[in-house]
Amino acid sequence: MSRHSILLIISGSIAAYKSLDLIRRLKEQGVEVRCILTKGGEQFITPLSVAALSGQPVYGDLFSLKDEVEMGHIRLSREADLIVVAPASADLIAKMAAGMADDLATAMLLASDKKILVAPAMNTQMWQHPATQRNLRQIAKDGAIVIEPGEGMLACGETGAGRMAEVETILVAIKKHLPAFRAK
Ligand SMILES: Cc1cc2nc3c(=O)[nH]c(=O)nc-3n(C[C@H](O)[C@H](O)[C@H](O)COP(=O)(O)O)c2cc1C
Repeated sequence: MSRHSILLIISGSIAAYKSLDLIRRLKEQGVEVRCILTKGGEQFITPLSVAALSGQPVYGDLFSLKDEVEMGHIRLSREADLIVVAPASADLIAKMAAGMADDLATAMLLASDKKILVAPAMNTQMWQHPATQRNLRQIAKDGAIVIEPGEGMLACGETGAGRMAEVETILVAIKKHLPAFRAK
């Protein structure tokens, strides 16, 4: 796998630290990684770590005059081969299911013509809540590919389903869904 471009959305979950390893692993394999950090995501990891690991500017502001002169939210999607949301918070999944577009991540997802992989990460009760399960069914119906979370010890101290899939599992899903090599 080389010279592909992935747009990674990191949302507000305690599992956001794992996305740093995902970036590192993708870069090791020659994949260009651009990142959008949501307002929630920024509470868990810093734009500086994401920028340093990805070697790219980090995007977060829908109303950035600099980026939006070039319609940044649309350009980001068009220039990517694949979009990955990891971790995907319950909140972001709900917004996707509702077709909301009130921040850069959701506006870009709604304006996207690319395949979207979603790796949910949340507390077991959030995961099992009928609203979350309904939203997941909706986004899958709309074409998103959901990478099922695993079970185990969660950051909140509880044990159960909702733990984000391992980075290795996300990498396997990414490789499966990346289109053929695109020369640059
Ligand atoms: C310590 C802490 C951990 C959290 N972990 C998660 C989580 O793993 N998954 C999740 O869906 N929400 C989690 N939340 C709640 C989200 O951060 C919150 O819903 C936030 O608004 C999501 O922002 P986003 O839309 O940018 O993802 C957590 C909140 C706190 C304070």
